[in-house]
Amino acid sequence: MNTKFIKINKKINNFNKTIKVDGDKSLSIRWALLASQAIGNSKAFNLLRSEDTLNTLKCLKKLGVKIKLSKKFCQIEGRGINGFLFKKNLILNAGNSGTLGRLLIPLLIKSPYKIKIIGDKSLSKRDFSRVIEPLKNMGVNFYPQTKKKLPIFIKGSNYLRPIKYIENRGSAQCKSSVMLAALNIHGETSINAKKSRNHTELLFRNLKIPIKIKKKKNHDIIKITKPNYINCFNFNIPGDISSSAFFIVLTLLTKNSKLLIKNININSSRLGVIKILNKMGAKIKLLNIKKIDNESCADLFVKSAKNLKGINCPSSLNSSAIDEFLIIFLAAAKANGVSYFKNISELNQKESPRLKIGSKILSMIGVKVVSDKNSIKIYGNPNLKLKKNYIIKNFLKDHRVFMMSVIAALSLGGTWKIFNPESVKTSFPSFLKIISKLGARIN
Ligand code: S3P
Repeated sequence: MNTKFIKINKKINNFNKTIKVDGDKSLSIRWALLASQAIGNSKAFNLLRSEDTLNTLKCLKKLGVKIKLSKKFCQIEGRGINGFLFKKNLILNAGNSGTLGRLLIPLLIKSPYKIKIIGDKSLSKRDFSRVIEPLKNMGVNFYPQTKKKLPIFIKGSNYLRPIKYIENRGSAQCKSSVMLAALNIHGETSINAKKSRNHTELLFRNLKIPIKIKKKKNHDIIKITKPNYINCFNFNIPGDISSSAFFIVLTLLTKNSKLLIKNININSSRLGVIKILNKMGAKIKLLNIKKIDNESCADLFVKSAKNLKGINCPSSLNSSAIDEFLIIFLAAAKANGVSYFKNISELNQKESPRLKIGSKILSMIGVKVVSDKNSIKIYGNPNLKLKKNYIIKNFLKDHRVFMMSVIAALSLGGTWKIFNPESVKTSFPSFLKIISKLGARIN
C-alpha cells in the first residue's frame, strides 16, 4: 500500500472466521542468523516475509552468505561459526529492527575490519549500550568508544574472553546477544538473566550447542561453551502471537464474533497477552496443542467478551507480553473498572515510546489515564463509543501503533485517519488483507 494514510469511518460488522497470521518474527530472525553459522544448507518453512526479516537476509548476503528465497521456503547456505566474508568498508543496515541489530552484532566480534551498523530513524534513537557494554567486556571494540546509539562501528578481536553477565531488564535481545557472542568464545560464558522469551535457548538445544540452564523463580542461569561446529537444520516457523494479539482484541471488542487463529507459537515466555486478557475475563482457548521443532504451537479460539474487567497486572507477566501492551491497553479502555500496569518503563524503549503514545491515544479517545515513565492506570469504560474525528500521525512509523489504531477504529467507531499503513511491512505484511477478510471497510 502506497497511500500515506488510511481512513476508517465504520465499525467492523460481527464475524465468524478462521485466519492464519504471518510467521513469528523472533523465530524468523533467530533461525536466519543461526543458519548462517551452521555448516551446510538449512531450510525454514513459513519464514516471515517482512522488512525486519528481509533486512536480516540482506545483511547476511553482504557477509557472503548464500540465500535462496522461494515461495515455499528459505534456504541458507551456512558458512560455519565465524565464517562470514569480512570486507573493508562494510555497512550493515538493521532497518527498523532492534532484534536484528542487537543479535547481528555478536556474530561480528571477530571481524578484522571495522563494520558500520546503521538503522532507520526509529532504531537510531534506541539504546545499543545494553548490548555494546557486555561485548566490550569480552574484548570487542566499538567506535566512537562512548557512543550508545547507531550508527556505530564494531571491530572484532582475536583476544576475546568469556564473561559473567547479569541481565536484569528481562530483555531477550540482551540475553541472546551474549549467547550468540559465546559461539565465538573459548571458555564458559555465564548469564544470569531475568526471565524473558527463551527462543534462543530452545534453538541452542535443538542445535546441540553446549548449554546448561538452571531455572530459578524469576531468573535463569545460563552457561554456554563454544561448539566446534553447528549442523545445518530445518525449521518450521509457527504464526506470531504478537500479530495474533491484534485480532484477539478485535474479536473481544466486537459483538457476536468468533475467531480461530491457526498454528500460533504459544511458548510460555510469550503467553503474557493470553494470560492477561483471560484474567480480564476473556475466554481465549488454546486448541490442538503440539510441539514442532521444540516450540509449542496451538490454534487460538476467541469469542466476543461479555464483560471484560480491569486488571492489576502482575509485573511477572511484563516480559512475556512486552510487545502486546498497546493492544492490551485498548482492551483495558473498554473494560469495567480500573487497570494498572506497572514496571513497564521498557515500553518507552521500543520502536516508539509506546507507554507515552499508548496513553496519548487513550486520552485522545476520551479514556481517563494516569501515567508516568513506569506505569499506567486506565479507567475503563465498557460503554465507550466514539463519534468524533481522530488522527494518528505516528511520526516514528511504529507498526504496532498503526495496528492498535486500526483495531481501535474498527471496534470503537468514530472517523479515523491513520498515517503510515506501510509500517505493517515491518512485522506483519498481511495485516490489512486479514482485516479485509474479516469484512472491514477501509479507504
Ligand atoms: C525480542 C525481544 C523483545 C521484543 C522484541 C523482540 C526478541 O525486546 O520487544 O520485539 O526477539 O528477542 P527486548 O529484548 O528489548 O525486550
